[in-house]
Amino acid sequence: MTAAGTGPESTRILRAMKMSNDASSGVATTDARVAVIGLGYVGLPLAVDLAESGREVLGIDASDDRLASIRAGRSYIDDVSDERLAAALGSGSLRAHSPSDQREHATAVFICVPTPVTASREPDLGPIRAAAEGVRRTLRPGDLVVLQSTTYPGTTMGPLRELLEADGLVAGRDFDLAFSPERVSPGEGRPSSSIPRLVGGISPEATRRAADLLRPISPSVTELSSPDAAELAKLFENVFRNVNIALVNELALICERLGLDVWEVIGGASTKPFGFMPFYPGPGVGGHCIPVDPYYLAARAREVGFHERFIETAGDINSRMPEHVIGLVTAALNARGKAVRGATVLVIGVAFKPDVSDDRNSPARPIIAGLLGAGAEVSYHDPRLPRFSLADEHDAGPAPELASVDLAGALAAGPDCVVIVTPHGGLDWDGVFSSADLVVDTRNASAGHALRPGQVLRLGGGWS
Ligand SMILES: NC(=O)c1ccc[n+]([C@@H]2O[C@H](COP(=O)([O-])OP(=O)(O)OC[C@H]3O[C@@H](n4cnc5c(N)ncnc54)[C@H](O)[C@@H]3O)[C@@H](O)[C@H]2O)c1
Repeated sequence: MTAAGTGPESTRILRAMKMSNDASSGVATTDARVAVIGLGYVGLPLAVDLAESGREVLGIDASDDRLASIRAGRSYIDDVSDERLAAALGSGSLRAHSPSDQREHATAVFICVPTPVTASREPDLGPIRAAAEGVRRTLRPGDLVVLQSTTYPGTTMGPLRELLEADGLVAGRDFDLAFSPERVSPGEGRPSSSIPRLVGGISPEATRRAADLLRPISPSVTELSSPDAAELAKLFENVFRNVNIALVNELALICERLGLDVWEVIGGASTKPFGFMPFYPGPGVGGHCIPVDPYYLAARAREVGFHERFIETAGDINSRMPEHVIGLVTAALNARGKAVRGATVLVIGVAFKPDVSDDRNSPARPIIAGLLGAGAEVSYHDPRLPRFSLADEHDAGPAPELASVDLAGALAAGPDCVVIVTPHGGLDWDGVFSSADLVVDTRNASAGHALRPGQVLRLGGGWS
């Protein structure tokens, strides 16, 4: 695609500038020094991968806590080991700075900041805007800027481009601009370097340049025709997941009424070798992506006069699952002749999915808040989250914070009900099912365990 101000002459100038950048750094490779802005779940693995691929990486983050942790060689991201972080820091190939003390110039910049939604579920580009302001102040002719944050189609070529061009440099003529989505899935044992990538740039040249940076750290890089196409491809991946989770959550509710086991039904359907992909029901969706990203597409669709129905329906179904789990706890206690009020409830797992320490938008939050609101005495165990705040990201005031209890001790105390929200690996599940009198299992964690009749009530599966 052709950007304003592009043409054979400006392309020639851009190429010449890049070559001089390379010559001044004394390194034969293009973009020997790269900046990564936002060192979170996406940015830290990218920064370490790029450092390991031979680039000199400036990691930039606004959080003093995160910078202090990095400088101490302590990784807060499950998928980056302390050893890898220490090696990258020790060799000098990774340096971490705050936005205000960044003094060095990098010819290529990756922006990996959050893309949240507001309380009314509108896209909040505040972090992208703040990061772009910082990039603009150090932008030089010949640079490359790559946005990695998940966002609606038109962000890179719209708001991001406008902010970067505010001092007179023109994207596509004076600097390269591209979007390359991140697809990491923390906690699943898939290193970021094992995941194929997509890139769409303002010009074929910008696309190739970004792809050249990413190819050494990815099994493959697919070049798309524009940033917009790459932005929408990423959103579609997450909308696809959200919609299919909602579909299977509905199936679980239907199975409960039909007296069927949704887990058995999914297992049966999964034997079809084509045209089917299993998704699993659960207590609700969480994390930074699945409950958030679809609203970026819905908002953009509304701007072009299209009312998106799948996204709202899926969001509605998934966001009601915590309420359904509270209903299951109520029904389970009722079967024992007990009320929720005054019952002792132990929640196992508050991270938004197994084997991560990320509790953003975790369904455990509305489940615990709802049970507390109904008068239950709630405690939780999560080996990855020693403390758990009931405040969600839109809550202004203080909210109760709970501390993880010892699992064996909590089970020995004989809670009236155990609720499995997030079945982390490595927990003593035999201990849970041998000692708990009453369990609500939202994840089929009880499969394969010896259960007593009437001991376990499974989401979508009925009583053991
Ligand atoms: N978490 C995932 O699994 C995942 C997967 C794919 C894509 N994404 C997308 O990647 C983006 C980043 O997500 P994340 O999970 O890494 O977020 P995160 O909150 O873990 O990390 C973002 C980091 O950016 C920093 N930051 C914010 N504003 C800044 C600024 N102006 N300058 C410098 N640093 C700043 C924050 O301090 C934080 O450390 C989002 O758009 C998200 O949707 C996330």
